[in-house]
Amino acid sequence: MLNTLTAALTCCLLLTIPAHTFSLPPILTSNEDHDHQKPIKHPKHHPPLDIPFIGLGLWNSKGSDATHAVDAAFGTGYIHFDSAAAYSNEEYVGSGLTNVSIPRSSYWITSKLWNTAHQPSLVEPALRKTLSDLQTPYLDLYLMHWPVAFVPNPPKGRNSIIDQDTSILNTWRAMESLVHKNLTRYIGVSNFSPRQLDTILAACKTEKGGICPYAHEFETHPYLQQTEFVEWHLKHDIKVIAYSPLANLNPTYNGTHSDVPSILEDPFWQDLAANKSITVPQAVLGWGIQRGTVVIPKSVHAKRIKENLGAVDVNFTGLEMARIAEEDRRVRFNDPTKGWGVEPPLFEGLDGGSNRFVVEQEEL
Ligand SMILES: NC(=O)c1ccc[n+]([C@@H]2O[C@H](COP(=O)([O-])OP(=O)(O)OC[C@H]3O[C@@H](n4cnc5c(N)ncnc54)[C@H](OP(=O)(O)O)[C@@H]3O)[C@@H](O)[C@H]2O)c1
Ligand SMILES: *[C@@H]1O[C@H](CO)[C@@H](O)[C@H](O)[C@H]1NC(C)=O
Ligand SMILES: *[C@@H]1O[C@H](CO)[C@@H](O)[C@H](O)[C@H]1NC(C)=O
Ligand SMILES: *[C@@H]1O[C@H](CO)[C@@H](O)[C@H](O)[C@H]1NC(C)=O
Ligand SMILES: *[C@@H]1O[C@H](CO)[C@@H](O)[C@H](O)[C@H]1NC(C)=O
Ligand SMILES: *[C@@H]1O[C@H](CO)[C@@H](O)[C@H](O)[C@H]1NC(C)=O
Repeated sequence: MLNTLTAALTCCLLLTIPAHTFSLPPILTSNEDHDHQKPIKHPKHHPPLDIPFIGLGLWNSKGSDATHAVDAAFGTGYIHFDSAAAYSNEEYVGSGLTNVSIPRSSYWITSKLWNTAHQPSLVEPALRKTLSDLQTPYLDLYLMHWPVAFVPNPPKGRNSIIDQDTSILNTWRAMESLVHKNLTRYIGVSNFSPRQLDTILAACKTEKGGICPYAHEFETHPYLQQTEFVEWHLKHDIKVIAYSPLANLNPTYNGTHSDVPSILEDPFWQDLAANKSITVPQAVLGWGIQRGTVVIPKSVHAKRIKENLGAVDVNFTGLEMARIAEEDRRVRFNDPTKGWGVEPPLFEGLDGGSNRFVVEQEEL
């Protein structure tokens, strides 16, 4: 398995795509900047603001819960928020952000383009709607949420019809223009396979005005470590944002792999956390940070939001890191391939995804 994964990554990333470099877009300054600042802890970042190693996840945070979560997170020291149009709560997130009392350039907002807005003419209006809901003049990072285009206005009752005529490259080029227009500092991708990433990298490095992905947000946690895939990104200066960093705590994943225990009840993690006098979520998130990924735990409870931030102070020994590596289960909890009817399947060549691409490569 490890060998086939390596083969897949080698074939399509390490060999065909040499180390790429890209120049960063200018740092924007906001009219909203002002001097009124309350002293807060700024976990692990250095100016000019790079993506902070921990952020607040916002999927499934409903209505005013989202507002209060943003308020609680900022109050305890978070300066990074992971939003998306598809979470249907950006107005509530925006209400929380209006309370943030530091300059806009001192905190980080990510949002995501939904599948129904992949047609190039729909991309900028989608971002403008997000900016208006979030009540902010620009984003730090705008991600293509999935490498899947849906028909924009489907008939009633059919909300995920694949749009075969819009490619990820068509959409990416429209996203590049958002950076040129200063509507977002950076752009990136989410849920891409190595081959899909290849498509973007080949174009962004060679085309005039091309902008390469700043970050790739995908599912990765102790039960789906994808170490080689993570390390490939870091080596090539693409940040990895680890979503569902608490593994299977997201209740929408219930029943997806019922053989895997809740990570809170996993004896290995309980033992490890107890040894260090920290909680299991702090240990799991601390590992995510120490391996170089950005973690974005979601909670709507102030106590947990604060607890999770404690992960920035966690430090594992080399031996502990090696023990954790042995705990990988290679299980993926979030794969809408079947539900959406995506062809070819998502996550080709990756753990917990389709192996079809690997097989094709071996036949060459
Ligand atoms: N790009 C994508 O396609 C994509 C996909 C999935 C997720 N994401 C992003 O990643 C974020 C995080 O992933 P996620 O929401 O799937 O899962 P997660 O953050 O790994 O886990 C969230 C769950 O854990 C609970 N929880 C949080 N902290 C806890 C603690 N200290 N102790 C006990 N329980 C705790 C939360 O409950 P309470 O809220 O009730 O406290 C919630 O049910 C999302 O919110 C979203 O921003 C992106
Ligand atoms: C804004 O902050 C104040 C003071 O901390 C708090 O009382 C209020 O609930 C917050 N408002 C929102 C919308 O979060
Ligand atoms: C974007 O910001 C840069 C740097 O502040 C500025 O030079 C440029 O004119 C801006 N572009 C647009 C389209 O506003
Ligand atoms: C998922 O499982 C947890 C823990 O057993 C439970 O508290 C929660 O209600 C379940 N959620 C759903 C949506 O089934
Ligand atoms: C926790 O500490 C004990 C005692 O030192 C050790 O035997 C055990 O292996 C540790 N557990 C983990 C998961 O590191
Ligand atoms: C973390 O632990 C390593 C050795 O295990 C040590 O070299 C390093 O200084 C520690 N870092 C912090 C911030 O404590």
